[in-house]
Amino acid sequence: MDLEQIKKRLKAKLSPDRFQHSLRVMELARKLATLYQIPVTPVAVAGLLHDVAREIPHPELLKLADRYRLPLSEVERRVPVMLHGRVGALQLKKEWGIEHAEILEAVALHVTGAPEMNKISQIIMIADFAEPGRGHFTSRIARELALVDRLTAVRYIFDQKIKYIIDSGFLLHPLTIEARNWFLLEET
Ligand SMILES: [Fe+2]
Ligand SMILES: [Fe+2]
Repeated sequence: MDLEQIKKRLKAKLSPDRFQHSLRVMELARKLATLYQIPVTPVAVAGLLHDVAREIPHPELLKLADRYRLPLSEVERRVPVMLHGRVGALQLKKEWGIEHAEILEAVALHVTGAPEMNKISQIIMIADFAEPGRGHFTSRIARELALVDRLTAVRYIFDQKIKYIIDSGFLLHPLTIEARNWFLLEET
Protein backbone atom coordinates (compact mmCIF):
# COMPACT_ATOMS: atom_id res chain seq x y z
CA MET A 1 0.00 0.00 0.00
CA ASP A 2 1.49 3.36 -0.93
CA LEU A 3 0.85 6.61 0.88
CA GLU A 4 -1.96 7.67 -1.50
CA GLN A 5 -3.80 4.37 -0.97
CA ILE A 6 -3.37 4.69 2.78
CA LYS A 7 -4.77 8.24 2.66
CA LYS A 8 -7.80 7.11 0.71
CA ARG A 9 -8.55 4.28 3.10
CA LEU A 10 -8.03 6.50 6.15
CA LYS A 11 -10.27 9.25 4.77
CA ALA A 12 -13.22 6.84 4.82
CA LYS A 13 -12.68 6.21 8.55
CA LEU A 14 -12.35 9.75 9.87
CA SER A 15 -14.35 12.97 9.93
CA PRO A 16 -13.01 15.66 7.56
CA ASP A 17 -11.52 17.63 10.49
CA ARG A 18 -9.71 14.62 11.91
CA PHE A 19 -8.46 13.64 8.48
CA GLN A 20 -7.03 17.14 7.97
CA HIS A 21 -5.41 16.93 11.43
CA SER A 22 -3.83 13.62 10.38
CA LEU A 23 -2.43 15.19 7.21
CA ARG A 24 -0.95 18.07 9.22
CA VAL A 25 0.59 15.65 11.73
CA MET A 26 2.11 13.75 8.81
CA GLU A 27 3.57 16.93 7.31
CA LEU A 28 5.11 18.19 10.55
CA ALA A 29 6.39 14.69 11.41
CA ARG A 30 8.01 14.50 7.98
CA LYS A 31 9.70 17.84 8.49
CA LEU A 32 11.00 16.83 11.92
CA ALA A 33 12.26 13.45 10.65
CA THR A 34 14.29 15.26 8.00
CA LEU A 35 15.61 17.68 10.61
CA TYR A 36 16.54 14.87 13.03
CA GLN A 37 17.97 12.74 10.22
CA ILE A 38 15.60 9.81 10.63
CA PRO A 39 14.15 7.87 7.62
CA VAL A 40 11.11 9.86 6.57
CA THR A 41 8.69 7.28 5.13
CA PRO A 42 7.84 5.32 8.30
CA VAL A 43 7.46 8.60 10.18
CA ALA A 44 5.04 9.89 7.54
CA VAL A 45 2.99 6.67 7.65
CA ALA A 46 2.84 6.74 11.47
CA GLY A 47 1.82 10.42 11.45
CA LEU A 48 -0.91 9.83 8.91
CA LEU A 49 -2.33 6.80 10.73
CA HIS A 50 -1.85 7.71 14.39
CA ASP A 51 -5.56 8.49 14.93
CA VAL A 52 -6.95 5.63 12.83
CA ALA A 53 -9.04 4.41 15.79
CA ARG A 54 -9.84 7.84 17.27
CA GLU A 55 -13.46 7.92 16.11
CA ILE A 56 -14.42 4.42 17.17
CA PRO A 57 -17.15 4.76 19.83
CA HIS A 58 -15.95 3.98 23.34
CA PRO A 59 -17.97 0.77 23.86
CA GLU A 60 -16.58 -0.50 20.58
CA LEU A 61 -13.01 0.37 21.64
CA LEU A 62 -13.51 -1.73 24.76
CA LYS A 63 -14.92 -4.61 22.68
CA LEU A 64 -11.99 -4.47 20.27
CA ALA A 65 -9.51 -4.38 23.16
CA ASP A 66 -11.21 -7.47 24.48
CA ARG A 67 -11.12 -9.17 21.10
CA TYR A 68 -7.40 -8.42 20.75
CA ARG A 69 -6.87 -9.59 24.35
CA LEU A 70 -5.27 -6.30 25.34
CA PRO A 71 -4.67 -6.22 29.08
CA LEU A 72 -6.50 -3.13 30.35
CA SER A 73 -5.73 -1.02 33.36
CA GLU A 74 -8.49 0.43 35.50
CA VAL A 75 -7.76 3.88 34.09
CA GLU A 76 -8.26 2.60 30.53
CA ARG A 77 -11.55 0.94 31.45
CA ARG A 78 -12.77 4.24 32.89
CA VAL A 79 -11.44 6.37 30.02
CA PRO A 80 -11.67 4.15 26.92
CA VAL A 81 -10.58 6.97 24.58
CA MET A 82 -7.08 6.32 25.94
CA LEU A 83 -7.22 3.01 24.07
CA HIS A 84 -7.41 4.54 20.60
CA GLY A 85 -3.63 4.30 20.24
CA ARG A 86 -3.21 0.68 21.26
CA VAL A 87 -6.37 -0.51 19.48
CA GLY A 88 -5.39 1.50 16.39
CA ALA A 89 -1.96 -0.16 16.27
CA LEU A 90 -3.55 -3.61 16.48
CA GLN A 91 -6.01 -2.76 13.71
CA LEU A 92 -3.16 -1.58 11.51
CA LYS A 93 -1.34 -4.85 12.12
CA LYS A 94 -4.28 -7.17 11.70
CA GLU A 95 -6.44 -5.38 9.12
CA TRP A 96 -4.05 -3.16 7.19
CA GLY A 97 -1.10 -5.55 7.08
CA ILE A 98 1.30 -2.98 8.54
CA GLU A 99 4.16 -4.79 10.23
CA HIS A 100 6.77 -2.08 10.79
CA ALA A 101 7.28 -2.38 14.57
CA GLU A 102 8.23 1.26 15.12
CA ILE A 103 5.21 2.55 13.22
CA LEU A 104 2.95 0.32 15.29
CA GLU A 105 4.65 1.47 18.51
CA ALA A 106 4.27 5.12 17.54
CA VAL A 107 0.54 4.69 16.95
CA ALA A 108 0.10 2.63 20.12
CA LEU A 109 1.94 5.08 22.36
CA HIS A 110 0.90 8.46 20.98
CA VAL A 111 -1.86 8.84 23.58
CA THR A 112 -0.04 8.08 26.82
CA GLY A 113 3.63 7.97 25.94
CA ALA A 114 5.87 5.39 27.63
CA PRO A 115 9.45 5.08 28.84
CA GLU A 116 11.98 4.16 26.15
CA MET A 117 9.75 5.32 23.30
CA ASN A 118 11.51 5.03 19.96
CA LYS A 119 12.32 8.16 17.97
CA ILE A 120 9.41 7.74 15.55
CA SER A 121 7.09 7.60 18.56
CA GLN A 122 8.66 10.77 19.93
CA ILE A 123 8.23 12.58 16.63
CA ILE A 124 4.56 11.55 16.37
CA MET A 125 3.95 12.73 19.93
CA ILE A 126 5.52 16.09 19.07
CA ALA A 127 3.71 16.46 15.75
CA ASP A 128 0.33 15.50 17.24
CA PHE A 129 0.69 18.16 19.92
CA ALA A 130 2.37 20.82 17.83
CA GLU A 131 0.76 20.60 14.36
CA PRO A 132 -0.17 24.09 13.15
CA GLY A 133 -3.94 23.46 13.33
CA ARG A 134 -3.65 23.42 17.12
CA GLY A 135 -4.16 27.01 18.07
CA HIS A 136 -3.04 26.90 21.70
CA PHE A 137 0.10 28.86 22.57
CA THR A 138 1.69 25.74 24.10
CA SER A 139 1.49 24.08 20.67
CA ARG A 140 3.32 27.02 19.11
CA ILE A 141 6.02 26.81 21.78
CA ALA A 142 6.36 23.05 21.26
CA ARG A 143 6.71 23.63 17.51
CA GLU A 144 9.48 26.16 18.04
CA LEU A 145 11.26 23.90 20.55
CA ALA A 146 11.02 20.91 18.19
CA LEU A 147 12.91 22.85 15.54
CA VAL A 148 15.76 23.34 18.01
CA ASP A 149 15.90 20.14 20.07
CA ARG A 150 13.81 16.96 20.07
CA LEU A 151 14.21 16.04 23.74
CA THR A 152 13.46 19.56 24.97
CA ALA A 153 10.25 19.50 22.93
CA VAL A 154 9.22 16.07 24.21
CA ARG A 155 9.84 17.06 27.84
CA TYR A 156 7.86 20.26 27.39
CA ILE A 157 4.96 18.35 25.84
CA PHE A 158 4.78 15.82 28.67
CA ASP A 159 4.77 18.66 31.19
CA GLN A 160 1.96 20.42 29.33
CA LYS A 161 -0.10 17.26 28.92
CA ILE A 162 0.21 16.36 32.60
CA LYS A 163 -0.62 19.90 33.75
CA TYR A 164 -3.67 19.96 31.48
CA ILE A 165 -4.91 16.56 32.70
CA ILE A 166 -4.53 17.60 36.34
CA ASP A 167 -6.10 21.03 35.81
CA SER A 168 -9.05 19.37 34.08
CA GLY A 169 -9.53 16.83 36.85
CA PHE A 170 -9.08 13.90 34.43
CA LEU A 171 -7.52 10.54 35.25
CA LEU A 172 -3.81 10.46 34.49
CA HIS A 173 -2.38 7.31 32.92
CA PRO A 174 0.61 5.98 34.95
CA LEU A 175 2.60 5.49 31.73
CA THR A 176 2.48 9.24 31.12
CA ILE A 177 4.21 9.90 34.44
CA GLU A 178 6.73 7.12 33.82
CA ALA A 179 7.44 8.53 30.38
CA ARG A 180 8.04 12.02 31.74
CA ASN A 181 10.46 10.69 34.36
CA TRP A 182 12.28 8.67 31.74
CA PHE A 183 12.68 11.68 29.45
CA LEU A 184 13.91 13.85 32.32
CA LEU A 185 16.63 11.30 33.06
CA GLU A 186 17.49 10.68 29.41
CA GLU A 187 20.62 12.52 28.36
CA THR A 188 20.74 12.48 24.59
FE1 LIG B 1 -4.89 10.46 19.11
FE1 LIG C 1 -4.02 13.21 16.82
